[in-house]
Amino acid sequence: MPPLTRSGVEAMDAGDPLAGVRARFALPAGVIYLDGNSLGALPVTTAERLGRVVEAWGRDLIGGWNLHDWIGWPRRVGDRIARLIGARPGEVIVADSTSVNVFKLLAAALDLKPGRRVILSERDNFPTDLHVAQGLTRLLNGTAELRTVEPAALPAALGPDVAVLMLTHVNYRTGAMHDMAALTAAAHAAGALVLWDLSHSAGAMPLALDAAGADLAVGGGYKFLNGGPGAPAYLFVAERWLDRIRSSLSGWMGHARPFDFDTAYEPAPGIERMLAGTPVVLALAALEAGVQTFDGVDLGLVRAKSVALGTLFRRLVAQECDGLGLRLVSPDPDRCGSQVCYAHPDGYAIMQALIAERVIGDFRAPDVLRFGFAPLYVRYADVLDAVLALRAILTTRSWDQPRFRTRALVT
Ligand SMILES: Cc1ncc(COP(=O)(O)O)c(C=O)c1O
Repeated sequence: MPPLTRSGVEAMDAGDPLAGVRARFALPAGVIYLDGNSLGALPVTTAERLGRVVEAWGRDLIGGWNLHDWIGWPRRVGDRIARLIGARPGEVIVADSTSVNVFKLLAAALDLKPGRRVILSERDNFPTDLHVAQGLTRLLNGTAELRTVEPAALPAALGPDVAVLMLTHVNYRTGAMHDMAALTAAAHAAGALVLWDLSHSAGAMPLALDAAGADLAVGGGYKFLNGGPGAPAYLFVAERWLDRIRSSLSGWMGHARPFDFDTAYEPAPGIERMLAGTPVVLALAALEAGVQTFDGVDLGLVRAKSVALGTLFRRLVAQECDGLGLRLVSPDPDRCGSQVCYAHPDGYAIMQALIAERVIGDFRAPDVLRFGFAPLYVRYADVLDAVLALRAILTTRSWDQPRFRTRALVT
């Protein structure tokens, strides 16, 4: 294959059907942002949108709940997210954090499958999903059990005692992507439910929860959905379960008539039953602005660009950084999410040196440099410039300084 050149890469940007979408974001000049898989960039509309909600709060005070239907926003923003994940309106609601939603849906799944006590997952699932499952099984005094296996062993581990298969669709550390339809079908054939964590998939590719027959799903608002730091999460319950599913965090916002102040809990008829407390209105406004950056955007093009950006990055790293100690840990592009990851024993310091050069990726312990490609705003030329910066840092060993070795709290 002929070597890649700057003009070749610029031609890719010139032919990019999503190039214009970058203008929907307020990106700082001179920064190459390859961490939108962790915290999405700021949409240009967010500040004004938040300002309007703050003004409405000041002017309308508590009347805003009815006047602006703030109470309905978890469902409204949930319906917008539904389009991105292949769900129907009424199957998705914005609530709480991903961790809390995992708790609610795992507890509900055990409840929906009486006589089955196992939560099955993979060993390298995102820690919070496993921690929440551990906490839940402890709460249930050993009447439920978390079982984790290697990914290849999942189908065989779907025994008659499994209530729910809990998986993250795209692995946070390697980008490895599960076959959602195949694993959902395997779980169903074994009589189990499936709970998908879409944190690293939603907004990076078309998803088809309903077509795959998925039962339950969760995902975060602050990654590819651009909802801002600490944005609320969402959860999905397939329509066929909505009349039966019960939340163990049965708060008043999940009640059929919260303002009756009835002390006996009666679940709301639809997806609202999975709410617990009062909607986070300001954060919902920012999340809605984030989700609207996808308005009119074809998710098939998003995936195509994601694969093209990742493939370009791999080819350029092979071309420019050969023999410099990087080991690819991501699977082939067709089985990978929107990130490419390399292991290096000095990965942390190398990433800090890159960030000092204004190329922002992140580091995942123990040794992984993670580069995320948010197709709405990353350019092909950014990929080239990032690899050239990486090569310079590796060849000069400029990363080898105490200031780059000091671990910050957030990596
Ligand atoms: C797959 C996955 N699930 C869950 C979370 C965290 O969720 P929370 O928003 O509750 O912190 C993350 C965070 O990066 C994640 O990658």
